[in-house]
Amino acid sequence: MAFAELKQRQSVMWGNGPYERITNTIRDIHAVVIEKADPKPGERVLDAATGTGAVAILAAKRGADVVGMDLAPVLIDTARTRAAEEGVTVQWDVADAEEMSYEDGSFDLVLSTCGVMFTPDHGAVSSELARVTKPGGRIALACWTPEGGLAQMFGMMRPFLPPPPEGAGSPFAWGNAEHVRGLLGDSFELEFSEHDSILRTKDGEEYWELFSTSYGPTKTAADALEPERREEFHRIWVDFFEERREGDEVVHHREWLLTLGTRR
Ligand SMILES: C[S@@+](CC[C@H](N)C(=O)[O-])C[C@H]1O[C@@H](n2cnc3c(N)ncnc32)[C@H](O)[C@@H]1O
Repeated sequence: MAFAELKQRQSVMWGNGPYERITNTIRDIHAVVIEKADPKPGERVLDAATGTGAVAILAAKRGADVVGMDLAPVLIDTARTRAAEEGVTVQWDVADAEEMSYEDGSFDLVLSTCGVMFTPDHGAVSSELARVTKPGGRIALACWTPEGGLAQMFGMMRPFLPPPPEGAGSPFAWGNAEHVRGLLGDSFELEFSEHDSILRTKDGEEYWELFSTSYGPTKTAADALEPERREEFHRIWVDFFEERREGDEVVHHREWLLTLGTRR
């Protein structure tokens, strides 16, 4: 209950903007997760915090029997439309990953790309991930690292965001192998690997245009500011990315941790 207000805010915040534009910038992560997790025809697969359903749809295209769930109703609506356009069947649920209604051991494979890391209660969501995975089943999580480019971007945004509630876990702790081992190591045999997803834009302005119109956390923060303060946010944003200029483009390295596990 302690995080109910935050989750209510998040269910709206993540759906603010056409998130598909942002998920398209992490297609490389989706591809690695699908390749490594290797969903097979007929397997029961869960994509937790699916957003607009990119990974769930990829798993369904491999013939898996897929459930995609997310807290944000607007994103699930988009996911449903996208799946229909792509001619695949997925069960779409609006739900909280910290309190899932699926039976124990429902899934052969549980996936989440840059997803469950954003739930505030790390212990609760870890218990749920373990509970719904069958003995011998697999898990694959992609999470931004604490020192990486996405965490740095959130550090730059922090003065413009509402403070997190006391006791909420940092999302970026999920990019630290020891933290994940502490959460999931009793339930899963784990292995880790580090990766880099690079986003290139023409300049800092193009990065601002993309994120201030389409990325829930950035758009929600920017929309809530008075014009002068919004302009300050805009300027700090552009400067932050121009510092990452290489020649005629901005190159944003976004390091992430892949956690693969087998349920004990
Ligand atoms: C960065 S997006 C990632 C979406 C998607 N997995 C992808 O690869 O594009 C983070 C997602 O986590 C979802 N989320 C945050 N807290 C959640 C919770 N408690 N339960 C379910 N989904 C949650 C958000 O609604 C959002 O769709």
